[in-house]
Amino acid sequence: GDRGPTVVVSNRGPVTFSRDEDGERQHSRGAGGLVTALNAVLRRSEGAVWIASAQSEEDAEVAREPAPYEVEDLRVRLVEHDGAAYDLMYNTLANPLLWFVQHGLYNLPYSPRLGDDTREAWENGYLAVNRNFARAAADTVGDAPSATILLHDYQLYMTPLFLRGELGDRAEDAFVSLFVHIPWPEPDGWGILPNYMREGILESLLSADVVAFHTRAYARNFMETAARVLGAEVDLDNGTVRYAGREVWVRAYPISIDPAEFEELAGSEAVLEQEEFVKGLPGKLLLRVDRTDLSKNVVRGFEAYGRMLERHPEMKEDVTFLAQLQPSRGDIPEYAAYMEAVGRTVEEVNERHGTGSWRPIELFMQDNFPRSVAAYKNYDALLVNAVRDGMNLVAKEAAVVNEKDGVLILSEYAGAHEELGDSALTVNPYDLDEQADAIHEALTMPEDERHRRAGALRETVLSNTIEDWVEAQVKDIEAFREKGG
Ligand code: G6P
Repeated sequence: GDRGPTVVVSNRGPVTFSRDEDGERQHSRGAGGLVTALNAVLRRSEGAVWIASAQSEEDAEVAREPAPYEVEDLRVRLVEHDGAAYDLMYNTLANPLLWFVQHGLYNLPYSPRLGDDTREAWENGYLAVNRNFARAAADTVGDAPSATILLHDYQLYMTPLFLRGELGDRAEDAFVSLFVHIPWPEPDGWGILPNYMREGILESLLSADVVAFHTRAYARNFMETAARVLGAEVDLDNGTVRYAGREVWVRAYPISIDPAEFEELAGSEAVLEQEEFVKGLPGKLLLRVDRTDLSKNVVRGFEAYGRMLERHPEMKEDVTFLAQLQPSRGDIPEYAAYMEAVGRTVEEVNERHGTGSWRPIELFMQDNFPRSVAAYKNYDALLVNAVRDGMNLVAKEAAVVNEKDGVLILSEYAGAHEELGDSALTVNPYDLDEQADAIHEALTMPEDERHRRAGALRETVLSNTIEDWVEAQVKDIEAFREKGG
């Protein structure tokens, strides 16, 4: 039948604008796996508009223009938030609080921060920004019937509720989903949040038609949380929640990558250049590629590596640990402190185990995507030891371009473990001994076993690509509409 417009909303957009010396508008791509994945969604639906927060001054200029901005086949509409409101949303509410609660980062000293500023950040920051998103989405839909509005991630939890209000009568035939790209905790974990948040967010999410996650485990946790906190009626087997007279579908769609894109990247000039550097590193290559985030468990990874060298001194000079860490969320004190702890740990391990001609760890705290892809091609072992991770696309990206039958060491608490666990060495991210052993096992594994595991890993990734991810959601949107939801 006739379908109305498609609108995608996420906090971070596909591009950021700036002005060059000649006063010309320039743009650079937005970072992160989510942005790459959403690109695939947008490419499928002609005329779709992608709404995101303005991040730069030039973004704000673009935000003031009435029509969506056409860039790289995309139609982008930027939303300008009040600076102080955005800061409260991003640096006080969404990242240190929701992110910490949903990644189980609440055993750290003073974390998560539930302080004097929480309620203010909620009311004047989070709600304000979410209202802006809802308005922009409703405005973009205009009078068109049967809109499809796809909201993304934890920065937008209150948008479904506000969107209903903004759409009014048009809400009837609109389809609204919210995709949560980070883990959903068990009910007790969610219960750390103050009441107005734990209930408010659930009520908003249950005013959408579909709430989506990367794994079945998160979907189940969400339904159990809705039952506990709101007394909603949930059907765990069928993935439905009944609340306030409506039926909401709760689904798992494991996100993935575009293998062709990575294969092409792997052969690009920029990557080939970086490959010389990567291949020059002494010994076998142990690799990690992450945003510098507490959830990624970087410090414990280095400690486990140090422990491995302690127990297997014969490995010295025979391996280099390359860590490509992109700076992230540096205005949040917990993140800034973590980056320092990462630096200190690297110094300790290097001082203790290094020799005149060999540094055990090569750390780069900068964005260098070509070097990361060059390293993807050449690792002997890849460490993904997050304490929790929504999916982790690094594991998938690296697996499709690796040329060394490299071994994946994978946290049992990364979302990717549901799919990739069988072909990886599974580790408990809290257990240093087990991680030290796994690093050693990966680096000394017999050829045939490496070959078998790497092949299986690649096959698994290729069997569920970003296209499949989009396809599964489109199918459910059709089904939902057909049942008259
Ligand atoms: C995770 C989140 C995304 C976020 C990305 C980068 O993948 O799920 O919503 O965009 O990290 O974080 P940032 O705060 O820089 O947007």
